[in-house]
Amino acid sequence: MSLRNCRNVKVLKVCPVGQHKRADEFFEITLEYPDWDGWKPGQFVMIRPVGWELDLLWARPFSISSADGRSVTLFVQKVGRGTARIASLKPGDEVAMWGPLGNSFAVGPDTPTLLLAGGIGIAPFRGYVEQHPHPENLRLFLAHRLDLACYPFERLSGTVAAECMLEDKPEDLQEIISQMDALIREYAEKDGLVLACGPTPFMRTVQRVASECGARAQVSLENRMACGVGACLGCVTKDGDGHHVQVCTRGPVFWTDNVEL
Ligand code: FES
Repeated sequence: MSLRNCRNVKVLKVCPVGQHKRADEFFEITLEYPDWDGWKPGQFVMIRPVGWELDLLWARPFSISSADGRSVTLFVQKVGRGTARIASLKPGDEVAMWGPLGNSFAVGPDTPTLLLAGGIGIAPFRGYVEQHPHPENLRLFLAHRLDLACYPFERLSGTVAAECMLEDKPEDLQEIISQMDALIREYAEKDGLVLACGPTPFMRTVQRVASECGARAQVSLENRMACGVGACLGCVTKDGDGHHVQVCTRGPVFWTDNVEL
């Protein structure tokens, strides 16, 4: 993948995920499907609205939440100037998009698979559930700090076994960690897969417990990115041998025993 694979695509829709007080902060943007041969859950795209001109230089990375040959949907939280400008896009606006980038989550059609999402880390699991040949083998756990309606949880809970826990008070965090601990050990015992996406402390918990119980676990990293194609070195992390690697080309998905968090 290189910037030669960059395409200008039109915005089809920008809409809030659900009805709640922070509806303008959590939204989905749906874009025209470029001439991709395909994509896999866990991969991401870089997007840069054409209208940014020289105002905001760098593109922004987003997990592919869903794509179906007609459109690509990204789940976005407004956290800064770039995402605020993306939230204000209108149908028909043009966006430069390159992707699909990076590797993808492991899939075992008949393997019990636990999906652990921390907040907006739920984004890639929508596509994972939609593409999985046996979603009855999947179970989703979401830990969240804001109104559940901020996240596309209900869409997934209609298809797979799903539970969520709200971190509202300091003591909630310990309960969430205990539940994650129990779930990861359960999936290690049945030789299942554990896939996680969320903030770094969340993934450190997954890595620690997976290491203790020998679970086969992957984490998807959300490092800052500027190019998405291995050129700028802005996303570098260390692999399990202590070597520097680009998250955008060697990841974003890593086995927990092969990455430093
Ligand atoms: Fe540029 Fe990874 S984002 S090297």
